[in-house]
Amino acid sequence: MQTLSLAFHNRILIITINRPDKLNALNKTLIEELSTTIDDICNNPDIQSAIITGSGNKAFVAGADISEFNTLDAAGGRALAEKGQQLVFNKIEASSKPIIAAVNGFALGGGCELAMACHFRLASNNAKFGQPEVNLGLIPGYGGTQRLPHLIGKGRAIEMLLTGNIIDATTALQYGLVNYVVTQEELLPKALSILELINTKAPLAVAGCIRAANAASNHNAEGYATEIAVFGELFDTEDAKEGTAAFLEKRTALFKGR
Ligand code: COA
Repeated sequence: MQTLSLAFHNRILIITINRPDKLNALNKTLIEELSTTIDDICNNPDIQSAIITGSGNKAFVAGADISEFNTLDAAGGRALAEKGQQLVFNKIEASSKPIIAAVNGFALGGGCELAMACHFRLASNNAKFGQPEVNLGLIPGYGGTQRLPHLIGKGRAIEMLLTGNIIDATTALQYGLVNYVVTQEELLPKALSILELINTKAPLAVAGCIRAANAASNHNAEGYATEIAVFGELFDTEDAKEGTAAFLEKRTALFKGR
């Protein structure tokens, strides 16, 4: 694996996203490697549950890799969102084995969406969450417009989506986006101890809880389709070209509404 490192502890797979120099941004290779790893979690009887975390002490995942955005048109943007949702985000959510996020720093854009696709989340006290795509002239494409309102309520979610504001771990705890906030040192031990408890329970009952809870939250498949369509359309706007170029050139974007 080029972008992930894997470790095994008491039937728990620890997946560490490993591009620290790019704050673990999700590029094409990383999405493919995550997809393969999630398949392995589902198919390998020696794996009972999994943790996703980020390497280094600064970022969980700082988003989709923006450097891969500047060549995309509407069809390319649409395909990126659709493929990512199918290959990784929906597959994590649908996994019959628990997959949890140990958020150890920035969880922005696709990073926040990755954490939200997991069955639940823990954070270290330096974690930060946000959907800053609006700053790029875009919207979330990996399920953020759907899972964020579901997890924290529509009003808070729409404020985060429209402002691009980043919230700290304490606010994320208050919003119910994460279940626990601990120190960086305590993060993995805490995640492991919860999964060790879950791993003592009846696997078919655990799978049944996930399936039934997902059935309650996935009633609007059209929401995801709308997100994919809008995400794609925006790639053909001048503002998205300006927004992504401004990020890569480390300057403030100047939006014109076209
Ligand atoms: N895609 C591609 N590269 C990214 C990235 C992303 N989403 N997030 C960070 N990086 C890269 C930076 O370009 C930089 O690379 P460089 O050293 O080659 O210039 C490196 O990671 C370190 O990031 P930097 O911005 O210098 O760190 P910082 O501490 O000043 O700021 C953030 C941290 C997270 C606030 C800032 O990196 C950021 O805003 N990232 C993008 C967040 C975002 O918009 N995500 C949604 C994408 S859809």
